[in-house]
Amino acid sequence: MRRQNIAWSADGSVIPEAEPHTKAKHYILETYIVNLIHTLYGKGRYGVTNFTFIDGFCGGGLYKDSQEIDMWYGSPVKIIQAVREGYKKSQRNYSLNVQYIFIDNQKEHLDYLKNYAMPRAGLDELCDEKIHTFKDEFGTRTEQCEFFHGEFEKLIDFCILRAEHFRGHSFFLLDPCGWTDVSMNSIRKIHSLTKSEILYTFMIDFIARFITERDTKLQKAFHDILEADSYYDLKKITDLSSASVQCYLRNESMRLFRERGKFEKAFTFSMVPKGDTRPLYYLIHLSKSLTALQVIKDSFWQNNNLSYQYYFEIYGYTFRTTDYYEENQTFLEFDITENNYDYSIRKLHQQLVDLIYNQKEITFLNLCEKTMELNPANREQYVKLINFLRMEGDIEVIRNDKLLNGKKPDLQKNDIIKQPSTKQLRFF
Ligand SMILES: C[S@@+](CC[C@H](N)C(=O)[O-])C[C@H]1O[C@@H](n2cnc3c(N)ncnc32)[C@H](O)[C@@H]1O
Repeated sequence: MRRQNIAWSADGSVIPEAEPHTKAKHYILETYIVNLIHTLYGKGRYGVTNFTFIDGFCGGGLYKDSQEIDMWYGSPVKIIQAVREGYKKSQRNYSLNVQYIFIDNQKEHLDYLKNYAMPRAGLDELCDEKIHTFKDEFGTRTEQCEFFHGEFEKLIDFCILRAEHFRGHSFFLLDPCGWTDVSMNSIRKIHSLTKSEILYTFMIDFIARFITERDTKLQKAFHDILEADSYYDLKKITDLSSASVQCYLRNESMRLFRERGKFEKAFTFSMVPKGDTRPLYYLIHLSKSLTALQVIKDSFWQNNNLSYQYYFEIYGYTFRTTDYYEENQTFLEFDITENNYDYSIRKLHQQLVDLIYNQKEITFLNLCEKTMELNPANREQYVKLINFLRMEGDIEVIRNDKLLNGKKPDLQKNDIIKQPSTKQLRFF
């Protein structure tokens, strides 16, 4: 049940190795946070100014890295650095206020973080847990870090209070050692905050093993903590290594978090160690807004050199059995490389054409709401494709009662997309 080789000793003599999937997770985390700050704080007339970052399973903050001469920073350090980068990128002249809450149930890990990892990253002044004000060429920023030794489940109510009190936006990184460390009830508590989101490493391999081995000791946790009693139908799970079972597990996990966790938008990255066929865990992003979903997809494309696989056709609310995946081998294993851009566009094209063809007209916002979770394309690819179809005469875009012209205009949420009155839409 426990992940191996994760331990930091307070005297600095023991630290873990950064494994490739840990590094992949960190790439996504830091890209996403830079983009998040830039989007929420740095865009618009006056953006969000207050943020709470809660790293519920923070670890010691530093790893050995056999691929590099330097060491590799862990999530608490990466989060602070990414916020600062997003702040710089935004170049706004009003202040940004950030509170960080770092939790770990091993005191040695927190000691290592404060005594070694943060000082090494030049963040030692934040270890005193006070509010610090930084002034630079851009403006003013306040930052405060707090460290809590304890079980995340016991500290969740405190975290919710702190986030509520601070107002603004809250981001939870939940990176536990197993699926019994985070309850569905806590996911719902986070959802109850006005503006909140979660990046969660969900240990699907442990769940899969539990389901097939039918470990009775964990049965209660499966019902009480994960609330997964009517999910992952045991009879349907035969060969764990088959792609169809893997797709089924992922689809069920998405259904579980959307229905029981209440988060409307969910996006997953599947972390498959190279040379393996089974995902070790999913990096699940849970949010309530289309913007957050768009930003996480952008972050995925920015990291499109990751050598991790990514399964399609398993988004959405549809309930599908393993037989569905066995019969429909159209889902692909997908290496995240440049070439996959074509796959993404093809997939998007099919979905957009279906929707536009089946409705008299649809707004750009509605089109995004209906399809964003069903394909890997980001907003930029949507705009490119819609403009391409418009230039080809396959669709019309109407803004303020006028036909939209020009080669590459950006699209607005109220733009109306429809079939042209004179031409039938073609299917590719
Ligand atoms: C996978 S590691 C964290 C790695 C870190 N997030 C990173 O990316 O660098 C998980 C950490 O959670 C801590 N932990 C395990 N169970 C916990 C619990 N119930 N509550 C809080 N921390 C816990 C462990 O001590 C360990 O440091």
